[in-house]
Amino acid sequence: MRIVLENIKELVQIEDSTVRFKAGTNMSSLPVLKNAYLVMRDGLIEGFGPMDGLRDEKLDNDVLVELDCTNRLVFPSYCDSHTHLVFAATREREFVDRINGLSYEEIAENGGGILNSALMLENCSEDELFHSAIARLHEIAMQGTGAVEIKSGYGLSTQSELKILRVIKRLKRQSPMVIKSTFLGAHAIPLKYQDDRQKYIEMLIHEMLPVIATEDLADYIDVFCDQGFFTPIETEQILMAGVKYGLRPKIHANELGLTGGVQIGVKYDALSVDHLVYLGANEIDALKGTDTMPTVLPGAAFFLGLPYAPVREMINAGLPVALASDYNPGSSPSGNMNFMVAMGCLKYKMTPEEALNATTLNSAYAMGVEGICGSICVGKLGNVFITKELPGYANIPYHYASNLIETVILDGQII
Ligand code: NIG
Ligand code: FE
Repeated sequence: MRIVLENIKELVQIEDSTVRFKAGTNMSSLPVLKNAYLVMRDGLIEGFGPMDGLRDEKLDNDVLVELDCTNRLVFPSYCDSHTHLVFAATREREFVDRINGLSYEEIAENGGGILNSALMLENCSEDELFHSAIARLHEIAMQGTGAVEIKSGYGLSTQSELKILRVIKRLKRQSPMVIKSTFLGAHAIPLKYQDDRQKYIEMLIHEMLPVIATEDLADYIDVFCDQGFFTPIETEQILMAGVKYGLRPKIHANELGLTGGVQIGVKYDALSVDHLVYLGANEIDALKGTDTMPTVLPGAAFFLGLPYAPVREMINAGLPVALASDYNPGSSPSGNMNFMVAMGCLKYKMTPEEALNATTLNSAYAMGVEGICGSICVGKLGNVFITKELPGYANIPYHYASNLIETVILDGQII
């Protein structure tokens, strides 16, 4: 089946052939075609061009849907390369505690935070988790996301970690989104292992990883390598084990301090290092010329009141930058990528072009789907969204809290 979008005011992020990602000054380039058409067939992008070229397309009776996009913009769906959207319950009580003065780390030390999520998840069935997660996926799909990475990490026992990863596997089968799965058993040390951390790490390596590999439950492995969580040495130990099972690292690094996480990520050829609130010249140097995507999570910095990562310095140094939502109940209870684009512009001083590259092409790379998502390119998936009537793409970050998306197409089908 074919679907044809006509009279598009701006077709954003077009490519003749796709690049892996955009870095440095290239992040300023966002190719746009005005007064354009776009044809999708059987779930893939078949062609696009200026409107007056549409009559040359060999459109036969097969055209089932024609959509008039007069005054509307069309974007490739966002790729959200970092989320924890399988969770049992929200944590608004901690939100109020933080308003009243407790820090994120103090809440975690008192058994709140990640451990609290793990406790709630233990008592939640796989079906319950699946249904709440699919509702969240639908929510972010309608906000323009077409590909999402989802981490485990609210299990912290073999049984619960596997439960989350099995839920993600079901989501992969049943959702029209492109989904990647990441094993984050090393999200926190459970209370009963606080005096024997190594025992928990051994369990991750010898109990969880073998089953994950056998059941093909994860694409990547993650560790929360930060102050108060996993040390660089522990992180190396876990990553080494994951790599043996063919899981490429994608790690939480430098959210709470200059902890060496970035350097370890680079050493193990991580696909991405994420958060980067604390990033100095050494970290920037370590990232230069590597295949590791520096990924900034504006939602978590905003929600926790953390400093903002030095994105301008990173781009000026020639690095690529991706933006992701970190959708989770503790530090970023929103997966709205439009807001991440707005935050990129407002708080990180990115131009709209840079912020849109960071949430499409670069974040596609950060989750390993740049060959099929992240731009309007013939052969890529028909994952796009159509806006309401708008003057131009800079209106997305400008109207930072409005819902500007009118129609969502995933896999070439209107959602
Ligand atoms: O990416 N930083 C570590 N993990 C999550 C937060 C987890 C939580 O508070 O539940 C994050 O921000
Ligand atoms: Fe995270």
